[in-house]
Amino acid sequence: MNGKKSTPVSDIAKCDSMRTTDVADSGSDDTGSGLSGPDKPGTYNAGSEDVGREDSGQRDPVSDDIVSGNSGAGDSGTDHPGLANQGASSHPRAVRSFVKRDGRITRGQQAALDTLWPVYGIEYHRETLDFSTLFGRKAPCILEIGFGNGDALCEIAQREPHHNFVGVEVHRPGIGHLLMRIGQHELHNVRISDHDAVEFLANMIAPASLERVNIWFPDPWPKKRHHKRRLIQLPFLQLLAASMRFGAVLHLATDWQPYAQYMLDVLHKTPYFENTSSGRDLEHACVARPDSRPLTKFERRGHRKGHGVWDFMFKRNDIPV
Ligand SMILES: C[S@@+](CC[C@H](N)C(=O)[O-])C[C@H]1O[C@@H](n2cnc3c(N)ncnc32)[C@H](O)[C@@H]1O
Repeated sequence: MNGKKSTPVSDIAKCDSMRTTDVADSGSDDTGSGLSGPDKPGTYNAGSEDVGREDSGQRDPVSDDIVSGNSGAGDSGTDHPGLANQGASSHPRAVRSFVKRDGRITRGQQAALDTLWPVYGIEYHRETLDFSTLFGRKAPCILEIGFGNGDALCEIAQREPHHNFVGVEVHRPGIGHLLMRIGQHELHNVRISDHDAVEFLANMIAPASLERVNIWFPDPWPKKRHHKRRLIQLPFLQLLAASMRFGAVLHLATDWQPYAQYMLDVLHKTPYFENTSSGRDLEHACVARPDSRPLTKFERRGHRKGHGVWDFMFKRNDIPV
């Protein structure tokens, strides 16, 4: 990947965004601005027993299909310590936080993947990225993991042109959708990795190089036997801590109350982060959604189901990893 620019705006992409079959019904399912408070029940219907063994508790971020199927691909092989449970070990059956599947890809998404991936995509190598080369400029870098259809990422990238953004997502239709948006808005401050975020962080992100990390509505994996698939785990937080500069902010959000509590418990166990909110219990440890986080597709879906939303903003302290 390099910082070269080609013709970023694809007419096909523009056209595709008008189609009713377009991804993510972006905007059309916006149920309004009212956030459900943390006191609302966090019932989670998508995770019922009938959706298959690999039920992440979420739906396809683009088509809204239930996510199920075989375990994901992706190479492993990093030697990063403590990550054997999160897909970054050389163990051939490492546990991953996602189930990879192809999903439906619209013509516009495919065209964007064909024409814009070579410009904005980051090919996975076990080699540290140089952000200045990648973006062709020096600017603070914000990482979003699991961007889904990428609409939220696109919105903040437009709002914050002086920041560089790296999005990581394994779902191809979502990547295609974001590439279309990048083309439509002629964004030059976004790059995309299609690789497992655990391995991407472990092998491609330089220490202390990130200004902010956003992980919004990660798959909750509601069944107890799947909790090990949850992205937010102690070793993963350590990996994040190593990649973030001191004072950088980790912003997590979820609409699944048991996962919110799980996140908080793990965050309290790690020495590397401090809450920007003073409370320790769930109700007081979260913050109201800040302006820096637009409503996401999954959040809107949660609202429709009456879910609460929990946002956590933790600051990277100065304890070295
Ligand atoms: C529930 S969706 C949320 C999407 C989006 N943030 C939103 O709020 O609409 C979670 C997304 O995280 C992605 N994901 C899960 N684990 C991942 C990993 N290890 N690396 C990259 N993406 C991952 C999934 O593919 C999925 O699209």
